[in-house]
Amino acid sequence: MGAEAIEGLLDEGRTFPPPQDFKRQALITGAEVYDEGNTDYEGFWAREAAELDWFREWDTILDWQPPHAKWFVGGTLNVAHNCLDRHVQAGHGEQVAYHWEGEPGDTRTITYQQLLQDVQRAANALKELGVGRGDRVAIYLPMVPELPTIMLACARIGAIHSVVFAGFSSAALRDRINDSECKVLVTADGAWRRGSVFPLKENADEALTETPSIAKVLVVRRTENEVSMDAERDVWWHDLVPDQTADCPPEHMDAEDLLYLLYTSGTTGKPKGIMHATGGYLTQVAFTHRYVFDLKPDTDVYWCAADIGWVTGHSYIVYGPLANRATSVLYEGTPNFPAEDRFWQIVEKYRVTQLYTAPTAIRAFMKWGDEHPAKHDLSSLRLLGTVGEPINPEAWMWYREHIGGERCPVVDTWWQTETGAIMISPLPGATTTKPGSATFPLPGISATIVDDRGQEVGVPGGGYLVLDRPWPSMLRGIWGDEQRFRDTYWSRFGEGIYFAGDGAKRDQDGYFWLLGRVDDVMNVSGHRISTTEVESALVSHPSVAEAAVVGRSDAQTGQAIAAFVTPRGDVEGDEALAKELRDHVAKMISPIAKPASLLFTHDLPKTRSGKIMRRLLKDIAEDKELGDTTTLADASVVDAIKGRYLDHSKSQP
Ligand code: PRX
Repeated sequence: MGAEAIEGLLDEGRTFPPPQDFKRQALITGAEVYDEGNTDYEGFWAREAAELDWFREWDTILDWQPPHAKWFVGGTLNVAHNCLDRHVQAGHGEQVAYHWEGEPGDTRTITYQQLLQDVQRAANALKELGVGRGDRVAIYLPMVPELPTIMLACARIGAIHSVVFAGFSSAALRDRINDSECKVLVTADGAWRRGSVFPLKENADEALTETPSIAKVLVVRRTENEVSMDAERDVWWHDLVPDQTADCPPEHMDAEDLLYLLYTSGTTGKPKGIMHATGGYLTQVAFTHRYVFDLKPDTDVYWCAADIGWVTGHSYIVYGPLANRATSVLYEGTPNFPAEDRFWQIVEKYRVTQLYTAPTAIRAFMKWGDEHPAKHDLSSLRLLGTVGEPINPEAWMWYREHIGGERCPVVDTWWQTETGAIMISPLPGATTTKPGSATFPLPGISATIVDDRGQEVGVPGGGYLVLDRPWPSMLRGIWGDEQRFRDTYWSRFGEGIYFAGDGAKRDQDGYFWLLGRVDDVMNVSGHRISTTEVESALVSHPSVAEAAVVGRSDAQTGQAIAAFVTPRGDVEGDEALAKELRDHVAKMISPIAKPASLLFTHDLPKTRSGKIMRRLLKDIAEDKELGDTTTLADASVVDAIKGRYLDHSKSQP
């Protein structure tokens, strides 16, 4: 990727220094902290780690044997203790941890004291179900308070949780359970989806026919739909948890013990179980949550509008905010149910001070119209954040103006499931922002940009984003697949250099601009989906001979999935089959992975060695001038598809 290709695409003219009123009260207002983080990054992170409660102090800050890092070696702590007990012991038991807002409008207010009690009961319930230290627990729940409760319960007893987003299919749930051999599944009868019930337990039951490791299933009652309960295996939360004693001492966990697994898409069909550890993870999520969002625990009402099923929710709804004693909003539903002003109603109702959401949501708000936020009093907001995909400068400006009333700094935060915590982001009281740029690596973090050969690219310049120093919340591996861990992240650019999979550039002022994935991973509405995963789902259908999938750019969702499908033998590729295939993908993976467009074609563009040339398909899907076609085995295939794709897209509204 050459810098010239990128120059001119982005308007770098506008800059926004921290607003004066914000700066006056901000936790960090100067650049000294960057020096502290860079001159001695180990010492810097050790000082941040010391903000937590440790049962035993560490002997060594960092043991770095690339690609394996151990942080705070020899130290012991407990994440649930840090998120709950220490705040209650310090006299903050009455403070609200979560203002929970259900989709239908029901609410619950949960204080730190209550959450601590609920977590201890849930932890004892897990023990009764046979869960112990190191066991894996699968969690497939909607955004109800029982979700953070059970995660913290796992952390308390040293079990490793594996949360599966409730929008995933039964097949996806099954594969994730089996990969790490979870012992217990925690799910619910159903989930609210825009006023109707999504049958979560039914989905789970389908998965459970093929998950031999699961011994017990704990079921939360949420939607009150009929569900079948296996008398031997299934137990209701309300029958088991409330009767437990609210006393369960926290396990003393090693800093390097695993806290959780979270599966994410890679470039093959098989999701990767990203491993996160205890001490370093909590240190970095707490640090970044406090300073990127400028958190004032006594007065703020912080709201991260992600789903806990993704890493954003793990780090910035559960662990970061609770470690920092934040009062958070926890919202179960979607932004436009029952109406397109639901978010703004919530901001007004709880007097939200920080809002953290995704560019896709912001672009949807823009489309729905300025009148929706304008109807509500959003004057409580003092900071806005975004995450998950590159934010286009227009969306950034709209967010700042229509939601932030031009008084709130906007923090565009770059990070990944693998990094565990925010890596590149402004510090809102110190950094001058540019719309569309994530600005600079945070203190203690080092990132740079390299070319194809791994040579560092100067400033200005563009190429591949790499992280060239270990960081505390870094992934500790891929569950059960050391080779894939090495191959995916650490083999491309030399020892100890982490390849993020993103393209990036630095402008003349050294600001980082993230440019999207450079591998076969798509980013649809901030959700990571691999092209291969969708292709595998398509070819698993009996009518499909071959399929190729690409992410094409889309004004609202960032990327949209375009599928090219060759039907088998005499099967006819018609509208009915297209619908069936889209539904099939939803069933195999999730509705979020449904192709936005699907074109039947008798052949796919391939190299002479038979490799599908996705790059050409992407050009076709984006209606671009075609790139180099000289390596094609049969060039006429492309013309045939191109003609049909245009016809097809016209007939598809
Ligand atoms: O491509 C980058 C994009 O999202 C990817 C990570 O996805 P995931 O692991 O699902 O985590 C999403 C939430 C942390 C990255 O490789 N991405 C994330 N944040 C940004 C971004 N791209 C541009 N700007 C961002 N702020």
